[in-house]
Amino acid sequence: MSDGQMERIVLARHIVGAPTPDDFRLETLPIPALEEGQLLIANRFISCDPGTRSRLSPGASYAPPLKPGAMVDGFAVGEVIESRHPRFAAGELVMGTGWATHMVSNGRGYLAKVPDLGVPLSLWNGILGVPGMTAWFGLKRVANFKAGERVLVTSAAGPVGATAGQLAKLWGASNVTGIAGGAEKCRWLVEECGFDAALDYKAADFEAQFAEASADGWDVLFDNVGNASVDRALPVMRMKGRIVISGQVADYNFTPAEAPGIHNTREFIGKRLRMEGLVVFDDLPAFPAAQEELAGLIRAGQVKYREEIFVGLASLPAAFSGLFSGQSFGRRLIRV
Ligand SMILES: NC(=O)c1ccc[n+]([C@@H]2O[C@H](COP(=O)([O-])OP(=O)(O)OC[C@H]3O[C@@H](n4cnc5c(N)ncnc54)[C@H](OP(=O)(O)O)[C@@H]3O)[C@@H](O)[C@H]2O)c1
Repeated sequence: MSDGQMERIVLARHIVGAPTPDDFRLETLPIPALEEGQLLIANRFISCDPGTRSRLSPGASYAPPLKPGAMVDGFAVGEVIESRHPRFAAGELVMGTGWATHMVSNGRGYLAKVPDLGVPLSLWNGILGVPGMTAWFGLKRVANFKAGERVLVTSAAGPVGATAGQLAKLWGASNVTGIAGGAEKCRWLVEECGFDAALDYKAADFEAQFAEASADGWDVLFDNVGNASVDRALPVMRMKGRIVISGQVADYNFTPAEAPGIHNTREFIGKRLRMEGLVVFDDLPAFPAAQEELAGLIRAGQVKYREEIFVGLASLPAAFSGLFSGQSFGRRLIRV
C-alpha cells in the first residue's frame, strides 16, 4: 500500500475462546505526516505470536488488554523510509511492532536497529527476535541450565521450543526431548534439529510414551503449553528441577477460571522444585550479545528454523488464528 495510504489490522471485538478472522478488521487510512522526533517505518515482515492472544480479551495479562478498535501491536521488522528522529535515518532496518503496513514511531518502546549479521531480515522477527530470545534467556537465566542436564520442551516444533531444545543440546544437555503435535513435527525435531526424542501428544499411546521417556526424570521443563502440561511433568521432575513458564498456548483461549488446574504441587516440596515465569523484555539489554552469538550458530547451520510466509496484511487474521489449532509449523510471518 502506498500513495500516502496505509493499512492496519484492528481488534474488531474482544475475543471469546479461540480467535477467528472475524475478530479482526482491516482498515485503510492516510499515513500521518511526521512531527519532529518521529520516524516512519514501512514494515516488511509481521509475525503471528500466540502471546498476542492474551491481550485480545478483557482481563489481566502481563500487558494491558487492547480495546476494540485498537491496532494489534504484534512484532514486526521494517525499513525506516523517512525520519525526523535524531537516532534513526531513512534506509535503516528496525525491529518494532504493529500489525500495519506503516508505523509512525517516536523511537520509544520496542524499537531497535537490525545489525548486519549476514542472515535474512525475517529472522529478526523470529529466531533472532522475541522467540529466540525467549528460548535463550529462558534456558540461561530462568532455568539456570547446566551441561549434563535432561531437558523436556513442550510445543517443541514452534520457534521458541525448537530453539530452546537446540540450544540445550548445543550447551551440553544429556537428553533433550520435545513434545509436539503430529509425526511430521516430531520427525523434524529429531532428524533436523538433533533432539534425542520427540513425542507426539496427539498419538493414542502418548501417555505411555511420556512415562517411558521420563523414566530418568527431567531437570528442566521448558513449558510453552500451559497448566495441564506442567501438571503432567511435575511427578517426573528430578530433585531441584526447574520449570520455566514460557507460555500457555493451550490456555490462552480460556479465562483463568476455565483453565485446567495444577494439582501435583506436592512435588515442589519433596523435590525442592522451582517454577518461574519470564517476560523476555526483562533481558532486553542483553539481547544484542545473544543475537550475535545465535546468528553465528544459525550461519554455521548449528541451529535450524522453519518459517511459514503468508503474503499481504489481509492474510494476518487467519494466519494468527491458525496458531491455536496446530496448523502452524515454524514461525508464521506475513510479508507486507
Ligand atoms: N514469556 C515470554 O516472554 C514469551 C515470549 C515469546 C513467546 N512466548 C510463548 O512461547 C510459546 C511458544 O511461542 P511460539 O511463538 O514458539 O509459538 P508456537 O509454539 O509455534 O505456538 C503455536 C503452536 O502451539 C501448539 N499448540 C496450539 N494449541 C495447543 C494445545 N492446545 N496444546 C498443545 N500445543 C498447542 C501448536 O503446535 P502443535 O502442533 O505441537 O500442537 C501450534 O503450532 C507461546 O506460549 C508464547 O506465548 C513467551
